[in-house]
Amino acid sequence: MQPPADSTDVVHVIKGVIDAEEAAIEQYEKIIRLCDGYDYVTQDMCITLLADEQQHRREFVGFLKEYESQQS
Ligand SMILES: [Fe+2]
Repeated sequence: MQPPADSTDVVHVIKGVIDAEEAAIEQYEKIIRLCDGYDYVTQDMCITLLADEQQHRREFVGFLKEYESQQS
């Protein structure tokens, strides 16, 4: 994620975080599929990490909604 030209552009930063969370979610989902039937320990760890990233995404989607509602 690149810093915004305007360092006070909070929406840009929040959207960048959401994009990063979504990229992490995609990677964990990929690893979970690859591990299926071969490596249950890694798969279990990635399921836990996936849940963490999904929680982060939920938080930042909430921050975005809250911030945008205050701007209007
Ligand atoms: Fe995260």
